[in-house]
Amino acid sequence: EFHKHPKELALASDGPFGKFDNRQVQRGLQVYKEVCAACHSLRLVAFRDLKEIGYSDAQVKAFAASYDNIPSINPDTGEVATRKGLASDRFPSPFPNDIAARAANNNALPPDLSLMTKARHDGAAYLYSLLTGYQNQPAELIKHFPDSKTPAGLHYNPYFANLNIAMPPPLTTEGQVTYLDGTKPTVDQMAKDVSAFLVWTAEPKLQARHGAGFATVLFLLIFSFLAYGAYRNVWRNMK
Ligand code: HEM
Repeated sequence: EFHKHPKELALASDGPFGKFDNRQVQRGLQVYKEVCAACHSLRLVAFRDLKEIGYSDAQVKAFAASYDNIPSINPDTGEVATRKGLASDRFPSPFPNDIAARAANNNALPPDLSLMTKARHDGAAYLYSLLTGYQNQPAELIKHFPDSKTPAGLHYNPYFANLNIAMPPPLTTEGQVTYLDGTKPTVDQMAKDVSAFLVWTAEPKLQARHGAGFATVLFLLIFSFLAYGAYRNVWRNMK
């Protein structure tokens, strides 16, 4: 069995009390923007959603405006055109359509990443493992299964379900991005950060859900004591 289970990944958003580490999520946004966005969209995430991870209105506006490929239709002529991003736009695909996307990627389609950490089992850990898991094909594999040699244009990755993925290793060198908060941008760190970011894109309300769950359990606990007190009170005089 050459397919591997994901490595461990601990994130601040894990567990019932988990909260997003906004600094890490922001670093992940940077990795997404500078690396992944060359191929992948986030069609369920609007630029203005970035306010939830600590950006101001002005920062969101500037970030949105850094995109100039938002598809739009000229209302007068009906012609398809592109324009600059607004805060209300979603993260676009870098390609005008799927055919162009496939043409640029050996006929494979880079999937939208909005829900990727939900779509795959053990999402965040899987992503982190996939990004750091590229390696040479084990000699043993080729020995046992000569036909399984990784085809040209694909890349061996033991975390990918069918072992050969069309995506070239996106994170290859330390310092591929420059973090503003002084964090060392090792490949491992960048992979963790972008995974943390994609947990947020897939479930931006995670923190509110955790908070509501905690408040509910606390309420039920207090209510249980009250109910028990009432029960004792009602039956106080019965022998
Ligand atoms: C597939 C993440 C950068 C091209 C994928 C998948 C993920 C992913 C999670 C799906 C794997 C699966 O189906 O289980 C990322 C991240 C990136 C990144 C986080 C940045 C760090 C890129 C870049 C390119 C690219 C820069 C293009 C040069 C593709 C393609 C696929 C893919 C073509 C489809 C692979 C296949 O089905 O064989 N990516 N990606 N990705 N990605 Fe990326």
